[in-house]
Amino acid sequence: MSAEARGHRRQDRPPVLGIAGLTIEFATRRGAARVVDDVTLDVWPQEIVGLIGESGSGKTMTALAVLGLLPRTARITTGDIRLSGASLLGLPEAQLRTIRGRQIAMIPQNPMSALNPVLRVGAQVGEPYVLHRGADWKTALTQAVRRLADVHLPLPDERASEYPHQFSGGMQQRAMTAMAIALDPPLLVADEPTTALDVTIQAQILRLLREIRDEHHTSMLFITHDLAVVAEMCDWVYVMYAGRILEQGSVERIFARPGHPYTQALLRATPTGEAAQAELISIPGSIPSPVDLPRGCRFVDRCPYRFKHCDEEPPLLTVEADHTARCWLVETHG
Ligand SMILES: Nc1ncnc2c1ncn2[C@@H]1O[C@H](COP(=O)(O)OP(=O)(O)OP(=O)(O)O)[C@@H](O)[C@H]1O
Ligand SMILES: [Mg+2]
Repeated sequence: MSAEARGHRRQDRPPVLGIAGLTIEFATRRGAARVVDDVTLDVWPQEIVGLIGESGSGKTMTALAVLGLLPRTARITTGDIRLSGASLLGLPEAQLRTIRGRQIAMIPQNPMSALNPVLRVGAQVGEPYVLHRGADWKTALTQAVRRLADVHLPLPDERASEYPHQFSGGMQQRAMTAMAIALDPPLLVADEPTTALDVTIQAQILRLLREIRDEHHTSMLFITHDLAVVAEMCDWVYVMYAGRILEQGSVERIFARPGHPYTQALLRATPTGEAAQAELISIPGSIPSPVDLPRGCRFVDRCPYRFKHCDEEPPLLTVEADHTARCWLVETHG
């Protein structure tokens, strides 16, 4: 955790990323599917902020909205997305293209789908220098090799002239990361960047991302469904479920005292230490459909503590300093 982030979240400057009241809907044959619902989320300078939740909870749609890359059929119905205080919504596509890469870059889950199979890796990592900085290709390739060295790709000079299929999964993820940090953007959005990798490679990539944060002072929105990864990586965490933020707070506080039964269930389902050998406990039931959301608490159908108040959705209630949860049963700790 960065010293700057720890305990000093509210700062005089605006957050690097400020999402306020964001709602995203798809028009479907069965009616409007509200896949992101009134989401408010901040990433402060040099923080790694986790966005966690089961499959289908709206994490990727939130990330794509930040990059201005939502599918054409999605509509932002309310809310705002600000980058260092300036709104990104409604900007012309040409301006968004400039912002992507220079200001915000994304590290996707599947590097193979993002790398161009017919272009040498060095050319792909070097392209941003040509497109955004007006560099000639010789300079761009020198920069690309430097970036490949930054992400600890062995023999970067030789590797730069190879094609993506000649790289292992971990090396492809390193190449993607080199592309993302090419222009030193202040914000990285990483959508499950290590899910496709085996545990050893995953640990190496996570270490690399922390190093990038520390050395380049990059802020990150880090999407994962793995709480163990959150514990290792993040300063702050937002727990998302069926389009809603159900809990948020500093990582230490959420792990020490999860306030929402959903977060408690996620934590029980996360193997840690010795328990890693034990069988994964899964949460019974499934996430509600975005076209048929419950009237009250989103988690009501799966919650073991359900009671009559749950037909009305609570606001985010204060558990303690730097920690809120959307549950009527939240116990407040001074
Ligand atoms: N093009 C689309 N049209 C309609 N609904 C969509 C479309 N794309 C995604 N959705 C729906 O939006 C919801 C949120 O999807 P999203 O991809 O953001 O989930 P996620 O949290 O990233 O899940 P995962 O962990 O599986 O990546 C899901 O219910 C999904 O079915
Ligand atoms: Mg996703």
